[in-house]
Amino acid sequence: MTLWWVMSNVLDMCVKHNEERSTMFDFKGKTVVITGGSRGIGFEVAKGVVEGGGHVVILSRTEGNGHAAVEKLGAANADWYQVDLGDHESIDATMDKVFADFDRIDVCVNSGGVIAKSKFEDVSYDEWERTIRVNLTGTFAVCSKVYKYFMAKGGGRIVNVSSVAGKIGGGLLGTAAYASSKAGVNGLTKALAKEGGKYHISANAVCPSFTHTEMTKDLSADPDKNARVIAMIPLGRPAEASEPAQMILFFASEAASFVNGEIGDCDGGIVLD
Ligand SMILES: NC(=O)c1ccc[n+]([C@@H]2O[C@H](COP(=O)([O-])OP(=O)(O)OC[C@H]3O[C@@H](n4cnc5c(N)ncnc54)[C@H](OP(=O)(O)O)[C@@H]3O)[C@@H](O)[C@H]2O)c1
Repeated sequence: MTLWWVMSNVLDMCVKHNEERSTMFDFKGKTVVITGGSRGIGFEVAKGVVEGGGHVVILSRTEGNGHAAVEKLGAANADWYQVDLGDHESIDATMDKVFADFDRIDVCVNSGGVIAKSKFEDVSYDEWERTIRVNLTGTFAVCSKVYKYFMAKGGGRIVNVSSVAGKIGGGLLGTAAYASSKAGVNGLTKALAKEGGKYHISANAVCPSFTHTEMTKDLSADPDKNARVIAMIPLGRPAEASEPAQMILFFASEAASFVNGEIGDCDGGIVLD
């Protein structure tokens, strides 16, 4: 075996790893609940957990998307439960079913969410209320259930999917209602981190910017808007869903065992704080 052979194989592995963006994180024996895991960023997190040897419990609204996700991940690796994140009674009932059906839940990732794009003068009460209800109150309601479960079980990890909009007041994709909901998620995450630490509960959030998913397909299809948004991103391109997913997987894993209360940017360099 020559040094050249070793080096070329290591290089091949690095290139392959980069192309597939496969997870580096170990989830063997772990069960991870993922709201919004049926598509987009949440689905990429689900893939990473399964690649790392874990089991995923996807919570989302649309049955067809949920079943399709489980099929792609493999029925032995994933389950789907229906929930409406805009309805706290639906959240309570679904979380209770999940707690009853699984021996252990180790991590909860809150990726489910909706966008709101109206200019401030056009934001209706309905748009405001729905966006806050799904993105902020829905995240609170899931966290509230899982926090008490983790308290009783001796700990766990929470990762909330926020947005760059929550830090810069919108302007890339979502506007007032969306930015406010995500700023709220950041505050909620810090409060959870502060109060949960003594129960071995960690909470962190990830703030993506423009990422190719269903949520952004209209933006991606509009060349002018697309160019304007990309001009705001120092890396000069949108993310693929697997990119914020990698940061979420880090926070979800034991690799982040001493990270708590971090609001991490995965935004191509927009927020430089
Ligand atoms: N894409 C971006 O550019 C971007 C940027 C910053 C932050 N984010 C945040 O990243 C997270 C994931 O976004 P994404 O781009 O992956 O979005 P996506 O592709 O539109 O997926 C949204 C997910 O949320 C679920 N969901 C939406 N409303 C729900 C409700 N009322 N009840 C239950 N589930 C609901 C959807 O379930 P169904 O399959 O049932 O519809 C789906 O699984 C969101 O919190 C978003 O705000 C995204």
